[in-house]
Amino acid sequence: MIPVTVVYVLNGPNLNLLGTRRPEVYGTTTLSILEELCREEATRLGLDLVFRQSNHEGLLIDWIHEAGARVKAGESIGAVFNPGAYTHTSIALHDAIEGTELPVIEVHISNVHRREAFRHHSYISPIARGTVVGLGVDGYRLAIDALHRMSPQ
Ligand code: DQA
Repeated sequence: MIPVTVVYVLNGPNLNLLGTRRPEVYGTTTLSILEELCREEATRLGLDLVFRQSNHEGLLIDWIHEAGARVKAGESIGAVFNPGAYTHTSIALHDAIEGTELPVIEVHISNVHRREAFRHHSYISPIARGTVVGLGVDGYRLAIDALHRMSPQ
């Protein structure tokens, strides 16, 4: 069997509420529909999708370690990551990405720069390969495509 390359899509806290949480900001697409949109894009590119969401920082760190190891093993191209509010608080997520050298595209559904000042700083952006901000859930599809184009494989 030919091994299939994996793209991770990781989602942080409160993104399980997509579709009902502040639809004027985040839209009406639910997390399960978002997963399907990501799966379509991954399949189009010949990739396998691992799509996950957690409200727990430590679990997100474990998944970054897992994804980083799979990139080093030649099994994955990296991760599209929406860290939710941990974007603005988590040095631990920054260190996990830096420490594993995981290729990450940071995604935010909303344009965080048009919002409250506490959303303007990201601990993730300095160690991300790129960022997609304010394009709605479409940003995930664009980020998967960008990660694929950046990949040496
Ligand atoms: C978000 C923006 C964050 O500031 C917020 O805490 C989220 C979602 C976005 O996708 O726009 O939970 O990451």
